[in-house]
Amino acid sequence: MTNINEARVEAHYAQKNLMRVIREGLVAAGADPDRPDPGMLSAVDEFHIGGTEASRFVGEALGATAGMRVLDIGCGIGGPARFLADAFGCRVTGIDLTADYVAVGNQLSAMVGLGESVTLQQASALDLPFREASFDAAYVMHVGMNIADKPRMMAEAARVLRPGSKLVIYDVMTQRDGPVTYPLPWSDVLENSAVDRLAAYDKALEVAGLVIEARETKRDFAVGFFEAMIERMNEAQGSAAEGGRGPGPLGLHLLMGANTREKVDNVFGQIKDGLLAPVLVTCRKPA
Ligand SMILES: C[S@@+](CC[C@H](N)C(=O)[O-])C[C@H]1O[C@@H](n2cnc3c(N)ncnc32)[C@H](O)[C@@H]1O
Repeated sequence: MTNINEARVEAHYAQKNLMRVIREGLVAAGADPDRPDPGMLSAVDEFHIGGTEASRFVGEALGATAGMRVLDIGCGIGGPARFLADAFGCRVTGIDLTADYVAVGNQLSAMVGLGESVTLQQASALDLPFREASFDAAYVMHVGMNIADKPRMMAEAARVLRPGSKLVIYDVMTQRDGPVTYPLPWSDVLENSAVDRLAAYDKALEVAGLVIEARETKRDFAVGFFEAMIERMNEAQGSAAEGGRGPGPLGLHLLMGANTREKVDNVFGQIKDGLLAPVLVTCRKPA
C-alpha cells in the first residue's frame, strides 16, 4: 500500500474562485444568489454518483433520525450533509481535506438556513479531531478512492462512533483486476488514486471491529445516472455549437473543471465495462 499525498489530493480539488462561480451559476439560473433553493444547489453540491437520491439511500441505510449526531467523512462542499439535516433532521458535522470546499460549504449552509445544524471543518479522515464515541452515525461518500490507508480510515471512523451505531460507505470500487484509465473525477492520475476492491474494505472494517450488515453494488443505478448526465451534456454541447449558452449554469462541471467530459466518459465507460462500480456498504460498531 502506497500512502497518498494529502497535499496533492487537496490540490486536485482546490478551487479558490468556487463561491464566485456558484453564485454566478445561481444568478444565470434565475435564483437569488444570497438565498438559493437547496434543491437548486444539489446540481453542484452532491459530488458523487446519484445526487440527492444517493444521499437519501445513505441516510436510510444509516437509519437517520431527528437529532442524531452524524459525521460526514470527506464532506466536500456539504450537499449530502445539508440533505441529511434537511430531510431527516440530523445534526451533521463534516470534515474534509480541501479547505476551499469547507469554506464554500459553510457559506452555502448559512445561505440556505442550515448553518446551525451543519458544521464543516478541515481535517483528514486519517486523523479525526473528535473524541471517542462522539457520533451516533457516520458516512463516507466517494472518498475512499483517495485514501490508500483504509485500515486507518476505518479505525478512525470506528473510534469516534458510539457503540451500537452505524457507518455507511458509498464508494466507487474495482470489480476485478485490470488497469484503470484516468482522468477520473477523484484524480487525474494513478498516483493520487486508491480505488480498491471490496475485499480491501472488508478487511479494513474487520480489523477496525466493524461488522458488515449489508452490501449492494449500485451498477445499474450508476448507468442510469450517467446516461441522463451525458444526455444533458450533449444537449448543452449542441446548444453551445449553435451559439447557445453551452453547459448549464449549475452542475458538477463547476467542481470537475475543464476536463469534466473526459472524466465523466472514463468513469461511465469503466462502469459499463464492469471494471468500476459504486458500492453501498452498511456496517455497525458492536454495542
Ligand atoms: C468526490 S468528493 C465527494 C465529496 C462529498 N462526499 C460528496 O459526496 O459530495 C471527494 C472528497 O473527499 C475529500 N478527501 C479526499 N481524501 C480525504 C482525506 N484523506 N480526508 C478527508 N477528506 C478527503 C476531498 O477533499 C473531496 O472533497
